[in-house]
Amino acid sequence: MTILLLGSGGREHALAWKMLQSVHCSKLFVAPGNAGTEGIATNINLNPTDFDAIKTFVIKEKVNMVVVGPEDPLVKGIFDFFEEDPILCDVPVIGPSKLGAKLEGSKEFAKEFLVKHKIPTAAYGSFTKETVENGCDFLETLSPPYVLKADGLAAGKGVLIIQDLEEAKAELRNMLVHAKFGTASSKVVIEEFLDGIELSCFVLTDGKNYKILPTAKDYKRIGEGDTGLNTGGMGAVSPVPFADKTLMDKIESRIVKPTIAGLQHDNIPYKGFVFIGLINVKGEPMVIEYNVRMGDPETEVVIPRLKSDLVELFVAVSNQRLDEVALKIDDRSAATIMVVSGGYPEDYEKGKEISGLENVEGSIAFHAGTKTENGKVVTNGGRVIAVTSYGDDFQQAIKKSYQNIDRLSFDKMYFRKDIGFDLL
Ligand code: AMP
Ligand code: GLY
Repeated sequence: MTILLLGSGGREHALAWKMLQSVHCSKLFVAPGNAGTEGIATNINLNPTDFDAIKTFVIKEKVNMVVVGPEDPLVKGIFDFFEEDPILCDVPVIGPSKLGAKLEGSKEFAKEFLVKHKIPTAAYGSFTKETVENGCDFLETLSPPYVLKADGLAAGKGVLIIQDLEEAKAELRNMLVHAKFGTASSKVVIEEFLDGIELSCFVLTDGKNYKILPTAKDYKRIGEGDTGLNTGGMGAVSPVPFADKTLMDKIESRIVKPTIAGLQHDNIPYKGFVFIGLINVKGEPMVIEYNVRMGDPETEVVIPRLKSDLVELFVAVSNQRLDEVALKIDDRSAATIMVVSGGYPEDYEKGKEISGLENVEGSIAFHAGTKTENGKVVTNGGRVIAVTSYGDDFQQAIKKSYQNIDRLSFDKMYFRKDIGFDLL
C-alpha cells in the first residue's frame, strides 16, 4: 500500500517508523514531515489542511490510505472531504469525521457528550458574552481553584486555573468580552476543579469495536517539579505504574465502553484514535478532555510498545473489522525525554545544528522540530528531539534516554531532568 501521513512532529516520526515495519506498507509519504521522516520515508511539501492539494497528490501518487497525525485537518473535516468526493471516497482516512473531531474542537460539545452518556467528568457550565454575568454567578458556587476553558482550539493554551475568585471573574470577562483567545473563547466552559493525578488512555476504534492501547503519562510543564509554563509535553512514560487492573477495569467499563457506544448512538462516524485525558481522583477515573488524535510525546512511548502491525490495525479500522485483529503489547516500559530549544515555549531560535545523533545507541531519537539544511540536521521548532528508550521499568528506560541525551548537543539545548519524578 501507498500511505500518506499528515503532520511533522515526533508523533509522526514515531507513526512513520512503526508503519514502515509493516509488510503492507510499500511506500510512505509524509506531509510535510521533518528530518527524521525524511530519513525513512518521502517528505512532501504539502500543508495538512490544504485538502485540494492533498486530493491532487493522492490521485497522482495513487495513495491507498491517509493517516492523520494532528487535530487541525480532522477538525476542519478531512474525513468528510474524502468521503464525499466521488474519486477519493475509496481511500480510507484514519481519523474521525468532522462531527467526531468536535470532541476535541469544542469543549462544550465534549462536555455535552460526556453528560449525555453518563461518563464521569467534572461538573460544568458553558457561557457566552451574553451570559457572562451568569458565568460569574456560577463561579461563586464553586470552590477554588477555578477552571476556565476556551471552547475552541487554542494551541493548548486555552485552559486557565485560577485561585482567586475575583481574578477568575476578570479572566472570564477577558475571554468572553475581550476575546483573549480570539474566536476560540467566544464560549467558555467553567469546570469544577478535580484533584488527583493525571494519566492518558489511548483507544483505537473503527466506530464499533475498539482496542485499548497502552496508557501513558506526559509532563506538560517546562520546569522541573511541574513548574512554569505549559508546553506540548516534555516527556512521557508508558505504562503508567498506578494504572493497575482495578483502575483500568473502571476506565474501560465507565469511560471507554460508553464513549464508543455514545459515538454509535449519536451517529458520529469515527475511525481513528481517541485520546482520553483522565484524572484519577482517589481511585475514581474522571474525564478531563478528549483529543481525537494521538498525543505528542505520548505516541513516542505508546507506539514503540505496540507489537502488532499498525498498518494491519488501520486496515481493520477502515473495514470496521477491528474485532478480528489481536493487539499485542510489549511488556517492557518505555520512556521518552523531549529535548527542546532554549526559550521554548516562549520565543526561541531555529536553525541550530544538532550534533551527536549518530552516537545515539540503545534508544530511538524521534525527530520533532528538525529539518535538513545543506546536508545537516538543524532545529526547526520548540520541541526538537524525543529520545525514547525501553527498560524493565520506567526508571531504567528514563536512565537510558538521559545517557543518550548526553551525546546530543545544539546551541541552547534544554530538557527536563526529572521526568517520572512523581511516579517513584
Ligand atoms: P485540557 O486542555 O482540558 O486538557 O486542560 C489542560 C490541563 O488543565 C489538564 O491537563 C489538567 O492538568 C488541567 N485541568 C483541566 N481541567 C481540569 C479540572 N477540571 N480539574 C483539574 N485540572 C484540570
Ligand atoms: N501531550 C499532550 C497532547 O498531545 O495533547
